[in-house]
Amino acid sequence: MNTPAFTQDELKAQVGRAALAYVEKGSIVGVGTGSTVNKFIDALAELKGEIRGAVSSSVASTERLRALGIPVFDSNEVEELAVYIDGADEIDGQGNMIKGGGAALTREKIVAAQSRKFVCIADASKRVQVLGAFPLPVEVIPMAAQRIIRQFARMGGVAQVREKDGVALVTDNGQHIVDVSGLRITDPRAFEAEVSQWPGVVTVGVFAFQRANVCLLGTPAGVETLVYD
Ligand code: 5RP
Repeated sequence: MNTPAFTQDELKAQVGRAALAYVEKGSIVGVGTGSTVNKFIDALAELKGEIRGAVSSSVASTERLRALGIPVFDSNEVEELAVYIDGADEIDGQGNMIKGGGAALTREKIVAAQSRKFVCIADASKRVQVLGAFPLPVEVIPMAAQRIIRQFARMGGVAQVREKDGVALVTDNGQHIVDVSGLRITDPRAFEAEVSQWPGVVTVGVFAFQRANVCLLGTPAGVETLVYD
């Protein structure tokens, strides 16, 4: 029998649905941001009578959750979440990720940090050996952007301020995003620790301290479950 060929959109829908198995009844769920998470949110609506609600990592996800009748809590109202479900731009063999392609990395890292388990949902194109082929998003205070760009240049990276409609994109937190190409991040924890302490860096899009515990990877052969701990 031939292996069914799924579109990337179908793979995203499959992993979004598969993530429902990690949602505990009666719980508040941590919800990420992006096109894969949108599939998860749509599937989560079927369980809305069985969960208390969600803590969301972006204005976009909050709007989608509320439109489907899922209550959204402020992260300060909830001490700990059992699970955080989010996508990734890249994920390596240890569950370290690059995130922030949707500019939501700061709130994503905050919600991930208050969750006991991070379940990454991604199509197979996101799996890499070494992080860095995807331009690394870094949320920055605007007045520090050019100095941070020069610091990345000293590391061999080529960075630029992300634009939307011809002007610098403004995040949900009122800050800018710098995207850095040309990096090869062989020690994600050391990299995240170093860049996080540069003045003006709000959040670096390397998720090593908040790495995934599980990845549900959409492959042509179906959903593969990768466990990292
Ligand atoms: C948003 C993110 C997303 O999780 C990441 O960009 C993946 O998005 P998609 O599921 O649309 O490919 O980090 O800031």
